[in-house]
This record gives sequence, structure tokens and C-alpha cells, in this order.
Amino acid sequence: MRRDAAGNPLAWGSLAPLTIRPELPGVAEVAVYVTASMRGRGLGTELITALAAEGRTRAFSYLYAVVYARNRASVAAFEQSGFVPQIVLPDASNRPDTGWEDVVVLMRSLRES
Ligand SMILES: CC(C)(COP(=O)(O)OP(=O)(O)OC[C@H]1O[C@@H](n2cnc3c(N)ncnc32)[C@H](O)[C@@H]1OP(=O)(O)O)[C@@H](O)C(=O)NCCC(=O)NCCS
Repeated sequence: MRRDAAGNPLAWGSLAPLTIRPELPGVAEVAVYVTASMRGRGLGTELITALAAEGRTRAFSYLYAVVYARNRASVAAFEQSGFVPQIVLPDASNRPDTGWEDVVVLMRSLRES
């Protein structure tokens, strides 16, 4: 979590081990959210990069993220942080407000130097 001087939340991020697949102990999912007024200032990229560093410290081998294909800022922020798009899942998401949408899975290996 990133906060301003008054303690208000600016951005949130998580690094979640893939606990439903215990045979894959080296894999974790990264997710981030930046408050609307702070978007486009590099905070998302900074947070993803910090989470990747934390992932290396915790000895994860691979990080992945699942984002909406239409969310260009999200895809760009992950790419800036070394993630590479792996696959597009057509119509993988179905929300009441947006309907069926394509989703992109991005991955970053932490094995390289
Ligand atoms: C996606 C999100 C985390 C990005 O964080 P951010 O702080 O706004 O992004 P950054 O300022 O680090 O910018 C990252 C890249 O996105 C680009 N970008 C920013 N806003 C953009 C927009 N509206 N359209 C296209 N690209 C955009 C930036 O130019 C930058 O790319 P560049 O370095 O090649 O110029 C943030 O917008 C957000 O919280 N969105 C809502 C929640 C969400 O979608 N979370 C992701 C799912 S895990």
C-alpha cells in the first residue's frame, strides 16, 4: 500500500502465491490498483516493479497478472515492469456492467538476472 503524507491510500498492490496449485510453489499473481486521481504518473509501474523485487526476495520463479485486454494502461504498466503478454483469453470475463471481455495473461520470469 502507498499512502500520501496524511495517510490516505494512493495505490494498492498484492503478491499472491498460487495456493490452489501447491505443486507450483514458485508462482505468484500480481495485482495493482491506483486511485483515479493518481493514475498516469508512474505509480502503477513503480508498484509492480517493487512487487517483482519482493517476489525475487521471496524466491518466486514466475509472476503473472491477469488483466482486461482493453485496459491499455494496465497492460503497459506490466510491460514496463518486465512482464510479457503470453495469451489472450477471448471472452473470458463476464461482468454485469461490461459483459463478455477478452483478458490477457502476462508473465515475468524472475529466474533471469
Ligand atoms: C492500471 C493501473 C494500475 C496503471 O497504473 P498507473 O500509475 O496509472 O500507470 P503508469 O503511470 O505507471 O503508466 C503505465 C503505462 O501506462 C500508460 N498509460 C497510462 N494511462 C494510459 C491510458 N489511459 N491509456 C493508455 N496507456 C496509458 C503510460 O503511458 C505508461 O506507459 P509508458 O511508460 O510506455 O508511457 C491504474 O491505471 C489502475 O489502477 N487502473 C484501475 C485498476 C486496474 O485496472 N488494475 C489492473 C488489474 S491487476
